[in-house]
Amino acid sequence: MKITVIGAGKYGSTLVEKIARADYADEVVMLDVVEGLPQGLALDMNQARPIERYVTPVTGTNDYRDTAGSDVVVVTAGKPRKPGMSRMDLINDNAQIVGGVAREIAQSSPDAVVIVVSNPLDEMTALFQQVSAFPHQRVMGQAGMLDTARFQDKVAAAAGTSPLSVEAITLGSHGDTMVPVPSKVTVDGKPLGEVLDQATIDEIVDATRNGGAEVVALLKTGSAYFAPASAAARMVESVAKDQGGVMPTCAWVTGEYGIRDVYLGVPTRLSRAGVDEIVEIDLTEAELTDLRQAAEAVRSKQADVQGLA
Ligand code: NAI
Ligand code: 2OP
Repeated sequence: MKITVIGAGKYGSTLVEKIARADYADEVVMLDVVEGLPQGLALDMNQARPIERYVTPVTGTNDYRDTAGSDVVVVTAGKPRKPGMSRMDLINDNAQIVGGVAREIAQSSPDAVVIVVSNPLDEMTALFQQVSAFPHQRVMGQAGMLDTARFQDKVAAAAGTSPLSVEAITLGSHGDTMVPVPSKVTVDGKPLGEVLDQATIDEIVDATRNGGAEVVALLKTGSAYFAPASAAARMVESVAKDQGGVMPTCAWVTGEYGIRDVYLGVPTRLSRAGVDEIVEIDLTEAELTDLRQAAEAVRSKQADVQGLA
């Protein structure tokens, strides 16, 4: 099992360390355009192995030949947000970067399953698929796992309980039309409405939609990367180990939820083939309407995104 992460910045390097430490891959490759950066980080990570008790080697490189034949590729290359910026403000710069990465990966790892992370997420996922011409099943984006974790954490804080007591899911876009799904939230098995009042639930839904901006405003120099890297690591594991885990993913929707031919955050089953299945869960009419609106909001940008690369 060979796993490659493109981009050795905050997100990419944190993700590589998490994957290597989980110790199931034969090799993890980290590629960046900055000379010495991925090599230095790889050296540092490898030297932690005798202390941390794992063996997976990390290779740092600037050369796509070292990534050849990867089974799973995660694309984190691109600029992060600064305070006041929306994810959409990154589209022109990151389309150039992600388009270039897609052309390289199509050559060097033509059978890979690809998880895109670069923002704006829904559009960069669509762009990678268009440029690489990989089957839609093998190209997906990471957002819902992160947004869901933020939702769970905020519900747990408001309910005064452990984040592990909260089940939740977040669908839609990784942006303004994110769809947290309160009807599916449980706290210690109880429906959310029995634990928190409606005004608090509404506040948490809003705060979840703004969860990324909240971190950016505090950091000032970049965006979140610990929880985001955990989210991608969980997706990589489900694909690499062929686990069939069900998790929210930015995936190509083909009629499920009455939505067709767009990349959107939906529940999926992830296995060695990529997105094995889009799982249809019961939503309230209002949640379904929000999901369909999210699809229309991202559809037009996705349609012409290849023109930016
Ligand atoms: P960063 O600035 O720390 O790292 C980006 C890295 O990409 C840099 O090392 C840079 O040299 C590299 N890079 C630039 N062009 C490249 C190219 N053509 N090929 C290879 N590497 C290249 O940024 P960070 O924090 O790692 O974020 C990366 C991306 O992930 C951003 O677009 C950010 O918005 C996005 N992101 C997405 C999240 C999600 O949930 N989908 C969550 C957090 C961040
Ligand atoms: C986040 O949600 C910026 O997309 C990034 O943290």
